Amino acid sequence: MLTADGAEQRIKELIAPENFWITQRFILQFRKVMAYYRCAMMEIETKCNVLNEEFSLQYDRNPINGMKTRLKSMESIRQKLERKGLPMAPETVEEHIHDVAGVRVICAFPEDVYRIADALLAQDDIVLLKKKDYIQNPKPNGYRSLHLIVSVPIFLAREKRMMKVEIQLRTIAMDFWASLEHQMRYKKTADFSDGLIKELKICAELSAELDARMDKIRASVQPKEEKAASDT
Ligand code: GTP
Ligand code: MG
Repeated sequence: MLTADGAEQRIKELIAPENFWITQRFILQFRKVMAYYRCAMMEIETKCNVLNEEFSLQYDRNPINGMKTRLKSMESIRQKLERKGLPMAPETVEEHIHDVAGVRVICAFPEDVYRIADALLAQDDIVLLKKKDYIQNPKPNGYRSLHLIVSVPIFLAREKRMMKVEIQLRTIAMDFWASLEHQMRYKKTADFSDGLIKELKICAELSAELDARMDKIRASVQPKEEKAASDT
């Protein structure tokens, strides 16, 4: 995978010295945009941490089990633009690639997924651009998660910029399935046979059943949780 530094070195080797300053400017622009995406990711991460803190005071348990952030690599961005038939430029990235900045929020229960998503979307600085609810409507292979593409402001020294972030919200069970399925799918050694696809789908259904059963248990202890919170 080519990093920004690696890309710069490779370009230096390939192009004529008289053209280097143009390329150099291009790379600097890219670095700037990638830094903006990193800031937007931090904004979303902080917003989720704040919600987790507030909910844990209210219900005496943490709705968020963990978070992962990732910035798309330059090489993945290049490949995605190429698939879309678009040129590699900072403006095209900002306009056409919605998942440069990704935040994955792993919740304890399905109810928490919607609670966090609703609370985030109710904030007046967040703009929802796209929502895909693969929990209500799982993908044919069994994949479940709630996907939001949002636009969030970052405040720089001289300007405010709206940046896109892809937020994937899922339960621990959904994440368990998706992580293993992803690992296996990207192993290039074997094609997915029909039998394997069916087996994975059954596992996805079992994970959904596990979520539903754990949720029932949670609901049965909920009054105690709320009482504990109101006593404090
Ligand atoms: P890209 O795939 O990112 O181009 O966008 P899309 O429009 O297909 O978006 P979608 O919301 O369907 O998927 C976006 C992301 O969700 C992917 O990059 C994965 O991280 C995750 N995802 C979607 N489908 C699956 C799946 O079947 N298995 C796993 N493990 N992850 C998935
Ligand atoms: Mg993606």
